Amino acid sequence: MNKKNLTRREFLTVASTGTIIAATSGGIGAYGNASKTTGKAAILGGKPVRAKPFPGWPVWDRGAEKHVISILRSGKWYRGGATTVTEFEKKYAELMGAKRCVCTVNGTNALLTAMHALDVGVGDEVIVSPYTFIATYNVVIGSCALPVFVDTDPETFQINPDKIEERITKNTRAILPVHILGLPADMDRINAIAKKHNLIVIEDACQAWMAEWKGKKMGTLGDLGCFSFQNSKHLPCGEGGAVIGNDEELMDRCHSFHNCGRPYGSVKKTSNYPIIGTNRRMTEYQAAILLSQMKRLEKDTERRNQNAKYLTSRIKDIPGILPHRLYKEVTRAAYHLYPFRYKKEHFNDLSRDKFLSALRAEGIPCSSGYGPQYNDGLIEDALNSKNFKRSFSKARLNQYRRENHYPDNDQLCKEAVWFGQNMLLGSKKDIDDIADAILKTYENRDKLAQSDKTSSRYKKDSIAL
Ligand SMILES: Cc1ncc(COP(=O)(O)O)c(C=O)c1O
Repeated sequence: MNKKNLTRREFLTVASTGTIIAATSGGIGAYGNASKTTGKAAILGGKPVRAKPFPGWPVWDRGAEKHVISILRSGKWYRGGATTVTEFEKKYAELMGAKRCVCTVNGTNALLTAMHALDVGVGDEVIVSPYTFIATYNVVIGSCALPVFVDTDPETFQINPDKIEERITKNTRAILPVHILGLPADMDRINAIAKKHNLIVIEDACQAWMAEWKGKKMGTLGDLGCFSFQNSKHLPCGEGGAVIGNDEELMDRCHSFHNCGRPYGSVKKTSNYPIIGTNRRMTEYQAAILLSQMKRLEKDTERRNQNAKYLTSRIKDIPGILPHRLYKEVTRAAYHLYPFRYKKEHFNDLSRDKFLSALRAEGIPCSSGYGPQYNDGLIEDALNSKNFKRSFSKARLNQYRRENHYPDNDQLCKEAVWFGQNMLLGSKKDIDDIADAILKTYENRDKLAQSDKTSSRYKKDSIAL
């Protein structure tokens, strides 16, 4: 498989299982905090900067093992009549600073639950970022609503708040901001626009556990916030998700809906099934793993933030390397990924693919990130579906097709480079290795650009990184 085509999850799996290449290297650099060059690029036959793998992910301990086994032995595997899911919901709500939490089977279903509870669906238009994991597109389309994309701000990697209002129509019902890569979107602007136009806000915080906006956790700033606990996530349990919120009645509806529409709280017991529902319940095992994983979340988040800050300080002055910008209101990011933009014109036109191959050869796993997924066929498939044709006029769908272009996002997709969250869990030396490898690649740019046969070998090998 070509590394370029790895999905985020494949990349995170590869990055978190580490890389073993060859020997080590010395100090480096003449830009920013760096001091001297390190010689020939590894991809051209030099010594790699790094031979050691980065910290692996996920990490677990005996406590989790004991708890999971005790649940197995109890025979109480589902939440009905058991306590583990409920205990996690309470603790997670508390940690997030929300009144309530309802756990779901995964983040996709957390988003679908929130959409349902807020009655966002058929014929509605939902404002959303194109630069996101495909699940965000899917939940809007799956609810038979139109995903109306707003171009990305390449500096922040987030939805561009300046471009939201021009996409609002009389059918717009909700904004679905995504705190993508674990970096907060501009919630002050988004909430102000939503208020002005009377729109619902559902936060896709599926990559943003513990990230904060002016001291408040992401997921608590909109009407409802949704999280994923999938294997690659900072709070992982294989598959899992949660909706959090402060409105008791709304949360009762989420709970009832995720449990086949059975009565819950203000969803009164007028019958066995007073509202529409489905089964999106989390199992007890999932919650047991989450309770254990939650213990490390604060410390890990702090470390990722410190290391991200240090990495930015090390690479920000290297020509052609543009680290992401955090809004000034961000008091903490989650750093599910560490992103920067690569400007090849500063690297003697060395393509991003070759730049990535060169970094991998130095022992640094990296990814090109999301592509322009709105061109992948799923949007056209949705627009041609019976449901969409019934829910939206032909004129609206044709206008949508004409407007389905996001130049800033297209450009970002060509320039982005990501490092995985686990790489930020290591030591200062690990971060120095990343910065040194980038600088070494910069210093070798002329030779690398000349070499047209370099990348293929490492592209092929990269799945083993
Ligand atoms: C931004 C975003 N939204 C939604 C999801 C869906 O979560 P899950 O995979 O748990 O269904 C993910 C998961 O990766 C995500 O990254």
